[in-house]
Amino acid sequence: MTDDPNVATYKIEDGIAWVSFNRPDKRNCMSPNLNRRMGEILDELEYRTDFGVLVLKGEGTAWSAGMDLKEYFRETEAKGIGATRQAQREAYGWWRRLRWYNKPTIAMVNGWCFGGGYGPLYSCDLAIAADEAQFALSEINWGILPGGGATKVVVDLMPLRDAMYHAMTGELIDGKKASEWRLVNESVPLAGLEARVRELAEVLLKKNPVALKATKDAVRRVKEMTYDNAEDYLIRAQEASNSFDNEGRKEGIKQFIDDKSYKPGLGAYELKKQSA
Ligand code: COA
Repeated sequence: MTDDPNVATYKIEDGIAWVSFNRPDKRNCMSPNLNRRMGEILDELEYRTDFGVLVLKGEGTAWSAGMDLKEYFRETEAKGIGATRQAQREAYGWWRRLRWYNKPTIAMVNGWCFGGGYGPLYSCDLAIAADEAQFALSEINWGILPGGGATKVVVDLMPLRDAMYHAMTGELIDGKKASEWRLVNESVPLAGLEARVRELAEVLLKKNPVALKATKDAVRRVKEMTYDNAEDYLIRAQEASNSFDNEGRKEGIKQFIDDKSYKPGLGAYELKKQSA
């Protein structure tokens, strides 16, 4: 096993961190080394102030061909249960970090997306695919159930009949079908994918970052709550947000009510006018 640090890479440009699966010759499948490196990159980036949106993309023809059947499964299992659990911790660990990341995240699904790849796909707040991308829960094709959260991902995102069909047949669906089945927000032709993701990132960059973090967490949290629990959680979450940014909300109200410089129903308030 190589410890090549370049199996995952990033660059920061115009307020966006472009984080890449970077094993194109292996269709970006996730080895223990790649999972460890992704964890390190997420640590390095999370609280930096030179970007506001993280995009997860794949180099080459794949987004990610799922878990590495050789390095993640066969070679790790050969080392015993301790190594297996460690590899799982490292994989699931970075996906969990991403689910609750301090910045908004977008999956830019440029190509193949299989099995274990559904973990980080689900972890990203938003997902835009190429029409040409190909998705499958291929586990059934090589004789296992869709583990590592993949079954949970499709049941959470898709209607039950579609999730069942997808998991039991292992058939490929393209980006358009993935959008129809709600695995991703939308799909666009590959040639326009990056431009569309950039456009979406720019929308997010104009929003109050404290409110964005509170919102993305709230959407995931309330999904499993009763209405009453959600109501209470949202009161507490708003009050907690105020301790990080008590001025943003007041400025948002002021620019609408006093300055009449924008309408919240039609766009975001001007962040720059907010006094420090
Ligand atoms: N695990 C380990 N190796 C993988 C891999 C995976 N999940 N996906 C691709 N690779 C490797 C191939 O073994 C091959 O290695 P080699 O060059 O040393 O022979 C290399 O990546 C290129 O793959 P190849 O199959 O030749 O590319 P392709 O473009 O013809 O096909 C896929 C792409 C993704 C359809 C095909 O590689 C595939 O079916 N991968 C497995 C997908 C899967 O079931 N993942 C679920 C895991 S949970």
